[in-house]
Amino acid sequence: MSKAISVVVIGRSLSQQERTRLRSASQTPLAILAELPNAPQVLDELNRLRPQAALVLLNGELNHSFQLVERIHQELPDTAVVCSSEDNSPEVILQSFRSGATEFLRQPLVESEIASVFSKIEQSVIRPEESHLGRVVAVYASKGGCGTTFVTANLAASLARLSRKRACVIDLNLQAGDQPLYLGLEPIYSIHDVVRNYDRLDDQLMASYLTQRSKYLGLLAAPTEIGKDEDVRVEHVTRAIALLRAQTEYVVIDPPRMLNEITISALDAADDLILLLTLDIPAIRSARRTLDIFTRLGYDRSRIKVVVNRYTKTPEFDLKQVEKVLETQVFATIANDYQAAIASINVGEPLVLSKNQSRVIHDFSVLSSKLTGIKPQTETSAPTSKPQRGWTSIFGSKR
Ligand SMILES: Nc1ncnc2c1ncn2[C@@H]1O[C@H](COP(=O)(O)OP(=O)(O)OP(=O)(O)O)[C@@H](O)[C@H]1O
Ligand SMILES: [Mg+2]
Repeated sequence: MSKAISVVVIGRSLSQQERTRLRSASQTPLAILAELPNAPQVLDELNRLRPQAALVLLNGELNHSFQLVERIHQELPDTAVVCSSEDNSPEVILQSFRSGATEFLRQPLVESEIASVFSKIEQSVIRPEESHLGRVVAVYASKGGCGTTFVTANLAASLARLSRKRACVIDLNLQAGDQPLYLGLEPIYSIHDVVRNYDRLDDQLMASYLTQRSKYLGLLAAPTEIGKDEDVRVEHVTRAIALLRAQTEYVVIDPPRMLNEITISALDAADDLILLLTLDIPAIRSARRTLDIFTRLGYDRSRIKVVVNRYTKTPEFDLKQVEKVLETQVFATIANDYQAAIASINVGEPLVLSKNQSRVIHDFSVLSSKLTGIKPQTETSAPTSKPQRGWTSIFGSKR
């Protein structure tokens, strides 16, 4: 059975007759997600809804409409743009295609034309469940304060930047999720909406519950209201991960410290399990215990990546000793730079997206590169005490 094509109509509201015609004309049903005026916030709304098609009704100032078509074409490459106008002159049709529309519908809308246009779109749509699956990375520390939340937020941002693909964070600290602070977001939706609408949850609805920091970085927040965490169960988490990995290249999870069934369901789903620790006896012991538990849970060692956060070379612990105790190689280290870390948290901007010249940014780039096999685009040498020129332009630039 073919699934509905999701459409957002822009320009003006449809008449009842137009709406009925659109919904019933094509063999593939059309789900009209919203009807929006061509106002400044329309792109934000499109980014949130991520429809498969945008139907732009050309009216008013034509150039204004064509500018919007161009921006949708650039910013939402997966959304097919259909222009529609009462003016079917070659100039208008040509300008629609030049701006990035893939189809044109004349007005009043004709059923056979709607059917033909949307059947073409239906054939070109890559359905998320048919495309390849994104990678799930869980960052876990059994001891508090190792930097799980900081590392999760920055790793997701770093993966998105390196790959130029979408990444999202799932905050599973259901009682007190801090990710919005670390990512500088104010979520309206959360995993509680997944619970509320579980019966009708699909990839579109799931996408609309992400709070986007940019096109490339989103967050599925922990419940924003006290007491809403109790309803979240394993099946909600598992389904959210499955739907998000079908539409996002990297899903990075910040699970709670307690190894309850929700945490385990997230760890089970992870392709990479980052075991985070700091170089102190309690954290190393705790990591050792966690590794034993992972073995009992049947986790393959190749999935487990030991990462040392807040790393500075100290005479007490060198990495070799840590590797000996853990009987596992250290996969990567993240430098200790409290000033930079706390400053980024205080302004709500992941450090890796800032213009800071901290060594931490380089370390996240190396970690992301090791996880994905993608080489950083420019030089990879780490800044020494004096940062090299061009460093900011490599990692601090927003492109
Ligand atoms: N690489 C780093 N260098 C310096 N400081 C860091 C680094 N990573 C994290 N921190 C600091 O450590 C503190 C704790 O970080 P974070 O909140 O991410 O830990 P957590 O493991 O999520 O804690 P909790 O167990 O409470 O959830 C923060 O103040 C953060 O700034
Ligand atoms: Mg935390």
